[in-house]
This record gives sequence, C-alpha cells and structure tokens, in this order.
Amino acid sequence: MPQPIPQRSVEDPQRLAAPGLHPRQRAWVEVDEAAIAHNARALGRWLAPGSSLMAVVKADGYGHGAAPVARAALSGGATSLGVATLQEGIELRQAGLVAPVLVMGNLIQPDELRSCLEWELMPTISGMREALLCQNLASGSGRSMALHLKLDTGMARLGVDWGDGVRLLQALLGLDAVRLAGIYSHLADADAPDPGGGGLTALQQKRFESVLRGAGELGLATGVRHLANSAGTLRCRQLHYDLVRVGLALYGQAPAEHLSQTVPLRPAMSVRARVCLIREVPAGVGVSYGHRYTTRRPSRLAVVTIGYADGVPRLLSNQLEVLFAGRRLAQVGAITMDQFLVDATEAPELEVGSVVTLLGDDDGERIGPQDWAQASGTIPWEILCGFKHRLPRLSLGEGERDR
Ligand SMILES: Cc1ncc(COP(=O)(O)O)c(C=O)c1O
Repeated sequence: MPQPIPQRSVEDPQRLAAPGLHPRQRAWVEVDEAAIAHNARALGRWLAPGSSLMAVVKADGYGHGAAPVARAALSGGATSLGVATLQEGIELRQAGLVAPVLVMGNLIQPDELRSCLEWELMPTISGMREALLCQNLASGSGRSMALHLKLDTGMARLGVDWGDGVRLLQALLGLDAVRLAGIYSHLADADAPDPGGGGLTALQQKRFESVLRGAGELGLATGVRHLANSAGTLRCRQLHYDLVRVGLALYGQAPAEHLSQTVPLRPAMSVRARVCLIREVPAGVGVSYGHRYTTRRPSRLAVVTIGYADGVPRLLSNQLEVLFAGRRLAQVGAITMDQFLVDATEAPELEVGSVVTLLGDDDGERIGPQDWAQASGTIPWEILCGFKHRLPRLSLGEGERDR
C-alpha cells in the first residue's frame, strides 16, 4: 500500500474552520449538495442512450469541495470522476472514493505515474514517452495500467495531434502492460453559438471521428470515447459518445446563455458574509483605499467581513451588489483584502451581525457567478474556483442553521 501523504485530507474538519471557531463567524461558502445530485440526475436524463456522466471535480470541485461534490454527483448517477492533478486524485482516494478517476493533466515524471498505478488513477497520455513509462512501471509491478489517450483536435493544448492518433493507438496496443481505457479530445469553443453548424466544434468532431474510424478499420479497440465538456453536452447529443466530462453544469451554471434552457440546473454555491461594523457618516466622506467613492448624502455604511483575499475580485470595486432581505445593496469604495463596505442607508434593519449574500439567493433575488464574470471581464469558472480556503465550505443545511 502507498504511504499516506502527510497532509490534511479533504474531509478533515480542521479544514472547515479553526478549532473552536464558529464556521459562520465571518464569511463562508455554502454548498448545496442536493443541487449537485439533482444536476447529475438532470444531465443523466439528457444524455444520449449509452452515454455516461463523468463529474469533473478538479480545482477542489470548482471551489465547492471535491469529495462532497464527488459523492453527491455519484449519488445522482455520475459513474466516474475527472481531476486535473495527481494530488487531486489522491485526495479523492484518501476520502474513500472508489469510483474510476481520470487525471486529465499531463503527468510526466515516473513517480507521478507510479502513484497513479498505486492509487488506481487513470492518467491521460499525449504521446509515446508517457505510454512507455507506464508500460515499464506496470510490467515491473505485475499489474496492468489503465490510461486514456488524448487527441488534440483543435485546442492546441494537451493531446497528440489527431493526425498521429491512429499510429499512436497502434503503438499503444502493442504495450502488454498498458490497457487503453479510453480515447478523448477537448472542445475549444463549444459554448459559441453556431447556428450553421460549420464552426470549430464541427471540425473537432470530424477530426475525432476520423481517428475513431481509422481505429475501427484496423480493428483497434479504443475503450470509452469522450469529447464533450458542459457546453458540448448541452449543445447536442451527437457529441456525447460513451461519456461526457461535465464540470460547470454540474455546479448548476450554464456555460452560455443560449445553453441555459436545455437541462434544468440548480446553482450549488452561495457565498455569504457578516457585517461587523456600521458607521453613520455625513455626505462628502471618502471611502476605503484611494477614496474611489465619496458619499453623496448622509450614509449608513456597513463593513462586510470578506475581501479579495477570500476571492472577491478587487476589479469589482464599486460594481458589486450584495443581497439583504431580498434587496440589492451597493458595495462602495475599493474592495480591500479582508473587508468591503456596503451602502446600507436604505436598509435600516441591517445591523452588526447581519448576513449578506454575495452569490446565491436571498428572498427571491439572485446573484450568480455570471454577473460577477460579466462585470469583471472573466468567466464563471474562474469566479467559482477563485474562493480561497480561508472561507469554510459548509453544506447547505449547516449554512442555514443559526444564521
Ligand atoms: C479536459 C477537460 N474536460 C472537461 C472539462 C470540464 O469543462 P466544463 O467545466 O466546461 O464542463 C474540463 C475543464 O476545463 C477539461 O479541462
């Protein structure tokens, strides 16, 4: 058995909050695991017959917490898990998850590939170099090593060039200690509207198909075939093949507005923080670093205990809104490392200890990661992954209790 890695596991309660500290003392991320299971079920109903769902839980489950998300997704019908790094795969195993895990990053060191073998994680390979390393490691251990071959069909990132795909497949099948469990590619532009259907996604699919056809003609087994991310999955069933690798949609977010109606998704993340101080100030007072906001009237300013070191982009200074009792309150002045200010002049009931919602629902109003992404020129993926571990992750029930 491999030696346990000296680190805190994802399940370690110490990671949720310092000992003795109330996890809802300052600011926190609430994770609705039932929403994750619901999304997995809803995606499962949409999949082409014969296709199955891989839950992509890399980057700590897109900031939601990898192990709880993985469990929820598996309970909703996902059959495998996708991560980016070896460490992420090991953390899932340490948390007791036994489902097949694909490591989608490129592992290049013999030690990394040896760990894959020991922890039963499937590496992705993009060429013969890593395939031979796997062969040597596996044949030395008396075991066979399952892996997935990645083709580059138009992303120009990981994967062997699709034109060399059949040749590499042939070479792989000559390695007796390596088992080709799957073949895949990644779509670069599946969230772009493509009414004519002749865009990059169609080209990538054509290239993918050409490798599959070439393999078929030579009688080469490819294992599980997969191409679609969330956008590809929601876009059309012809992209589903044997498996889809879904991240963003699993967390309840559509990758683009035009893909938001295909499957009913429930957002799984809320971010909330407490007010720690209220100050009454006259008109004309400069607020926060650089005085990028000046009060225009006598104002009631609330100091909210979350900042850019928690993952609230400083770029959103003076643009953010928070929800309180179903109302939107403007954030004012520069967002600082640990706090920001909100104009609570119109919300006299907001007091020290009140909780405001940065992302999520509050009395029928909702702010989503798309809103932040649009305002700060990024994408919802980056917003979700941006919340730091300084924020405890609480499952929805815990988050609601004693608020
Ligand atoms: C190879 C691969 N497959 C699938 C995904 C999941 O993508 P999405 O979150 O858009 O579903 C990712 C994420 O970036 C990825 O890198």
